[in-house]
Amino acid sequence: MEKDWWKHSVVYQVYPQSFKDSNADGIGDLKGIIEKLPYLATLGIDVIWLNPIYESPGVDNGYDISDYYKIDPKYGQLDDLKTLLEEAHKIGIKVILDLVVNHTSDKHRWFEESKKSQDNPYSDYYIWKDPKPDGSEPTNWGSTFGGSAWEYVPERNQYYLHCFAKEQPDLNWDNPKLREEIFQMIDWWFQFGIDGFRMDVITLISKDLNYPDAPESLPYTKSYYIGASNGPRVHEYLHELNEKVLKRYDVMTVGEAPNTNADQALRYTKPENEELNMVFHFDHMHLDYGRYGKFSDVRFKLSELKRVLSEWQDKLAEGWNSLHWSNHDQPRAVTRFGDDSVYRVESAKMLATLLHMMKGTPYIFQGEELGMKNVPFEKVEDCQDIETQYFLQLMKEKGEPESYIKESMYLKSRDNARTPFPWNGDANDGYGFSPSKPWIAYSSDNQFINAESALEDEGSVFYYYKQLIALRHQLPIIVHGDYELINESDSNVYSYLRTYENQTLLVVCSFADKPTYVDLPKELLERSGRCLIHNYPKEPSSLNVKQELQPYEAFVYLFD
Ligand code: GLC
Ligand code: CA
Repeated sequence: MEKDWWKHSVVYQVYPQSFKDSNADGIGDLKGIIEKLPYLATLGIDVIWLNPIYESPGVDNGYDISDYYKIDPKYGQLDDLKTLLEEAHKIGIKVILDLVVNHTSDKHRWFEESKKSQDNPYSDYYIWKDPKPDGSEPTNWGSTFGGSAWEYVPERNQYYLHCFAKEQPDLNWDNPKLREEIFQMIDWWFQFGIDGFRMDVITLISKDLNYPDAPESLPYTKSYYIGASNGPRVHEYLHELNEKVLKRYDVMTVGEAPNTNADQALRYTKPENEELNMVFHFDHMHLDYGRYGKFSDVRFKLSELKRVLSEWQDKLAEGWNSLHWSNHDQPRAVTRFGDDSVYRVESAKMLATLLHMMKGTPYIFQGEELGMKNVPFEKVEDCQDIETQYFLQLMKEKGEPESYIKESMYLKSRDNARTPFPWNGDANDGYGFSPSKPWIAYSSDNQFINAESALEDEGSVFYYYKQLIALRHQLPIIVHGDYELINESDSNVYSYLRTYENQTLLVVCSFADKPTYVDLPKELLERSGRCLIHNYPKEPSSLNVKQELQPYEAFVYLFD
C-alpha cells in the first residue's frame, strides 16, 4: 500500500446539498454526485470530501446530526453511498466524510435521554452544569451563532453547553463510555469503506474542567474558546482514537482547528505523536476581520498574508499542512483575495498558483476551479445561513447603516459558497443543477461562470487547476520541497522558492492590478530553468533580475 498518499493528493470538497440534484427536489444528493464523477476525474483530483450527509434536522446544514449511522433521506440511502464509493474507487478517487463529534443534534437519541434526568444511562454524554447560586449560567460564554452557550433544562435543573446553536449540544468526551461509542462509530464507517474523515471543530472536544469565565475583551460569540479550545486532554483523546481505530486503517484525517496556532498544530500533526495527519487553520482567514469579527468590509494586507502563510510553512515542516483558500464557511476566494471583475480569471489562477505550489495538501472547494465569485443576493434576508442571520440581527440592533450591513454580508456570508453548482449557463435548465426551485437562490453570475463554458475554453480557470494538480502528481519537489519566502517586503508580489535535492522551484504571484515588477535572485537565473505554468497566454521568454509582471501575473519555473 502506498504510504502517506494524502501527501501527494489534492482534495475536492463537495457540498452535497448544492452539487447536483438527481431527483428534482431542488436539493443536491448522492446520486447527483455519482453522475458527476467524470467531471471530477477530468479535473484530476484524488480525494472527495463530503460535508455531512447523515440524518439531521438541518439547523446548521447537517452539522447537527441526529443519527451517525443513517444517511439523511434528502441525500439518498446507505446504498447510494456504497455505490458512490465503488464508482469513485474504480477511477482512483477516494472519499472522505465529515465527522462531527464535538456535538450532536438535540434530536439525537443520546440527548433526548440525557436531558430527562440527572441519573440515566446517557446523563453524562453531554456537558451539564448546575446554575450559579443566583440561578444564572455557569460561565459567561457566548455561542458561535449568538446568545449564551448555555441552555437551561428544567427536568435536570441544569444547563447544558452548546458552543454552536442550542440545537447542537456539546458531547462530554471526558466520559469514557461516550468515547467508546464514538470510536465504534468511526470504526463502523471505516468498515463501510470510506477513506478518512475531515473532523469538525475537533480542537474543541476537551473542555477545561475549571470552566473559566472569558475576558470581556473577547467577542461574545467566541468566548467559549477560553475553556473549550485546545483543552487539557485533546491530544490524549486524539491519540487514543489513533491507537484504537485510525492506526488499523489506511485512511487520512484532517482536523478543523479554529483558534489554533502553528505550534499547537505541530503537536496535532507530528507523525510520532500519532494524532492527525493535518489540520485546517484559519489564520489567513482572520486577516480581514473587523469590529464584528468576520462580518466586516476590511481588506487583507499582502504583508500579513505572507507572514501568516510563511509561518505555517516553516513551523509545520515537521508536521503537515493543509492548504485552502475557501470552504463551505468562507466567501469566495477570488472576491476576497483577488479581483473578481476585470482580472477574475487571471487572479483566480494566480491564487491557485500560490496555494498549490506550497507544501501541504491542497483543498479545492466546489466552484473554486471555475473562479466563482461572491453572490449578490438581492436581499440580505435571502441568506439562509444561521450565522449570517445572527450577525444580520446584531448589526441591525447596533444601528449599523443598511449599506454597511449589506456590504459585509456580501463580503462574508457563508451562503456565498453554498449556492448551487452551475453545470451550465441555462437558467431555464436550472443551470444544470435542478429542474426544480433550488433550496437556495442561484448566483446571477451562473450565466457566465459555469462548468460547461469552462470545459469548452482551453484558457479557463478549470484547465489551469487541472494543470496544477497534474504538476503535483509529477514533481516530488512540489510535495516535499522546503519552502523559503523571498522579497518579503515587496508589497505587490508574493514570491517564494521550494528546494528539493538539487532542484529549485520559483513561484511568483502578483497581487497588483497594474503592471509591476519583481526582483529575482541572480544566481538562480544563471541555472537552466523552464516554465511549468503561467497564467498569461505568452510566457516570459527569459527571466530578468528585474522581471516585469502583468496585473495578477503568476508563473512557476523549475531550475535544475
Ligand atoms: C464547523 C463547520 C461549520 C459548522 C460548525 C459547527 O466550523 O465547518 O459549518 O457550522 O463547525 O458544527
Ligand atoms: Ca435531490
